[in-house]
Amino acid sequence: MGFKGLKPIVYGGREVWPLVEGGKGVSATNHASSGAWAAAGGIGTVSAVNADSYDAEGKIVPQVYQALTRRERHEELVRYAIDGAVEQVKRAYDISSGRGAININVLWEMGGAQQVLEGVLERTRGLVTGVTCGAGMPYRLSEIAERFNVNYLPIISSARAFRALWKRAYHKVSELMAAVVYEDPWLAGGHNGLSNAEDPTRPEDPYPRVKALRDTMRAEGVPDHVPIVMAGGVWFLREWDDWIDNPELGTIAFQFGTRPLLTRESPIPQGWKDALRLLEPGDVLLHRFSPTGFYSSAVRNPFLRNLEARSERQIPYSRVEAGEHTVQLDVGIKGKNYWVTPKDRDRARAWAASGFTEALRTPDDTVIFVTPEEREAIRVDQSDCMGCLSHCGFSAWKDHDDYTTGRLADPRSFCIQKTLQNIAHGDDVNQNLMFAGHAAYRFKQDPFYSNNYTPSVKELVDRILTGD
Ligand SMILES: Cc1cc2nc3c(=O)[nH]c(=O)nc-3n(C[C@H](O)[C@H](O)[C@H](O)COP(=O)(O)O)c2cc1C
Ligand code: SF4
Repeated sequence: MGFKGLKPIVYGGREVWPLVEGGKGVSATNHASSGAWAAAGGIGTVSAVNADSYDAEGKIVPQVYQALTRRERHEELVRYAIDGAVEQVKRAYDISSGRGAININVLWEMGGAQQVLEGVLERTRGLVTGVTCGAGMPYRLSEIAERFNVNYLPIISSARAFRALWKRAYHKVSELMAAVVYEDPWLAGGHNGLSNAEDPTRPEDPYPRVKALRDTMRAEGVPDHVPIVMAGGVWFLREWDDWIDNPELGTIAFQFGTRPLLTRESPIPQGWKDALRLLEPGDVLLHRFSPTGFYSSAVRNPFLRNLEARSERQIPYSRVEAGEHTVQLDVGIKGKNYWVTPKDRDRARAWAASGFTEALRTPDDTVIFVTPEEREAIRVDQSDCMGCLSHCGFSAWKDHDDYTTGRLADPRSFCIQKTLQNIAHGDDVNQNLMFAGHAAYRFKQDPFYSNNYTPSVKELVDRILTGD
């Protein structure tokens, strides 16, 4: 038994600990971490978001794109994604040796999500127990799960989102909905499901929100043994004492995303692991620079600070003289008819004088100021786009119909595919996006990690089960 009598749940026909390692893309959970998590008796999650494949010598195959058009590169990406995830699942399953369970995670907003999911499930029959899926509204998740006879576990951040998915689609495949993951939209690492109804600056207590979710599930006839998986900000189970065995909430399981980043089996590079130990409260920022348009949480490192600064060097303009836009911009941009306020023109002149000489237009009738090098880097990243998202704010790529969002490519954003691949494969942790949950500062305070100790996954799971 675990902390406070925490009991195993039945999942995929077998008893497992109600402890989940959340899926983390790109390549921040893979066969090694998820297989070990399952072997320790929990539910491990292989990330099927552009997962790594291996060559004959077992080395990671770099995802190099040969095709000349975005559309063809997108096809290459889908092939890489399927091959990679299939390989990861097979290896994870071997490592688990029949214990625990292996899930896969996909992001509904990733390019070709449905094709990738179907391709992976087709080639991993009997190995995958369930599919977790968040970001966007994955209505089709249930019918895909039904076709392949696997469980599905929607990731949502409000009772309302669950209700919409259930009403429209999931009620038709109720028996395969093995759990509902509540991901705290203020605290969890990675992309966050904040809606317009929520204030990003005012985190809400998860308890009443999860209670509301359970009430909604009950009203729709979902039995209490179907767990709600609490994700986001979970560290010591002893802090969740009143959630365990609480009839008001029904069955509760816990998902960890940030904490398992620092284990021996965790596939992230050593530099990333080292950086986690140094974080202080407040070092993780909830922001909106992701090209998906979603909020997300990442370490406020120089990469993120640079994006913040870029957005601060921003002024609105109009194409005709109007209102307070009484003067024309005379730095940064060629051509006339960029009407701005006199104060903004002064700011623009000051930015130009300190090296930010290039003005780039955004889809919101503003311009931002960058250095010539930065402008070139943005241009190269946009033209190298391989269509990894269903809609990308940064490159204006769309994975269907006419293959464009029809909006101007947004230089305030960035290529998330490039930077997540880079950080996962050993590039500078300061110059890439470093997703993390808001509890990441706890590595530094938790004695479990003192003297530079890095636990194995089994040690971490055992530790969590003690309440610590
Ligand atoms: C580095 C990182 C990458 C993540 N990537 C994904 C992802 O691709 N898909 C997903 O559904 N969740 C992703 N998550 C969220 C985790 O699965 C998990 O729900 C979350 O981290 C839990 O909150 P915590 O960070 O406070 O532990 C990611 C989290 C981190 C820290
Ligand atoms: S530009 Fe956007 S769609 Fe293209 S690869 Fe980068 S993040 Fe993906």
